[in-house]
Amino acid sequence: MSYKLFIPGPVAVSEKTLRAMAQPMIGHRSADFIALYEAMQPTLQALCYTQDPVYLATSSAWGVMEGALRNLVAKKVLCCMNGAFSDKWLDVATRLGKQAGALRFEWGQPVDPAALRAELAKGGYDAVTLIHNETSTGTMSDLPAIMAVLREFPDVFSIVDTVSSFSVLPIKKDELGIDVLLTGTQKALALPPGLALVSVSRRALDRAATVPDRGYYFDFVEFHKNHEKGMTPSTPVIPLIYALKSKLDEINAEGAEARYARHARLNATVRQWGAARGFKLFPEERYGSLALNCFANTREIDLPALNKILKTEHHLVIDGGYGKLKGKTFRISNMGDETDESIAALTRALDATLDKLSA
Ligand SMILES: Cc1ncc(COP(=O)(O)O)c(C=O)c1O
Repeated sequence: MSYKLFIPGPVAVSEKTLRAMAQPMIGHRSADFIALYEAMQPTLQALCYTQDPVYLATSSAWGVMEGALRNLVAKKVLCCMNGAFSDKWLDVATRLGKQAGALRFEWGQPVDPAALRAELAKGGYDAVTLIHNETSTGTMSDLPAIMAVLREFPDVFSIVDTVSSFSVLPIKKDELGIDVLLTGTQKALALPPGLALVSVSRRALDRAATVPDRGYYFDFVEFHKNHEKGMTPSTPVIPLIYALKSKLDEINAEGAEARYARHARLNATVRQWGAARGFKLFPEERYGSLALNCFANTREIDLPALNKILKTEHHLVIDGGYGKLKGKTFRISNMGDETDESIAALTRALDATLDKLSA
């Protein structure tokens, strides 16, 4: 059965993107690959608001997330934790044998810049991990305010996960002083999973060169050396790179600003729909994500039953809550290629399903 995903990643992939992937293979050391790689850099850099290169890594986002820790943490990393994905950083850092501290917030709360300042002021840290948009709770932290704090601690490298916010709103890497900005392709870029993007500041690259045991596959120094030749360190997932090129062309045609405005408009539409149906947003309104809405299941709807009807009768799927929020929240994505029409079709289907459940 085919159905359309409205979960917050992976999101629905268009026919056009799928077709872009189905092209004949090229060698990853060929002039054709170099031309493809180099043609994408200006748009990738524009989307990251950076002069630094944007490396392409064949992995899901966790590959470069783990890589960032291996490349930058020599003393101790501070992990800002306010949901399932940000909580996981601490676990991953510990598994890598890194010293790691936890700065915890309730799920649904954003990262508090003042608390971050107080913790960093204690000293001993050389890196911070942070998720801009915590997808598990639909909570967006105030990145400019957090980065203003991090700029007060120039010896601390910032590792910022923009997995579910990249291309949803402007994230000004250079202006904010972000050292490592990373994302995956299965969220707002609406590509299949398997490719990660990472942009690394010059000072972070210099730092990486001094950190031992940073491995090979995600070594930023290797990425940079190959980038200078228009290549990746190892054989990349070329079909996804074709898809990325196609998507970047689409973004250029739509215009980044128009894309941000579309995401904001569709996000507001879904939020209004939820409010009108008696569902409270899980985070405080002002910290609500622009990429998705995470609603508290205030009406205690049977979410598996809802999704079953939605899937079988309307060929649509939403998310029934992540981790410890399963059943207690539900999440609806407005990332990628969604339009006013596709969101209207979703809310109509949700209304019909809610009516059926309460009949
Ligand atoms: C904010 C955030 N960070 C990291 C990840 C992990 O990404 P991946 O599964 O691509 O490794 C996710 C996945 O949903 C995410 O939402």
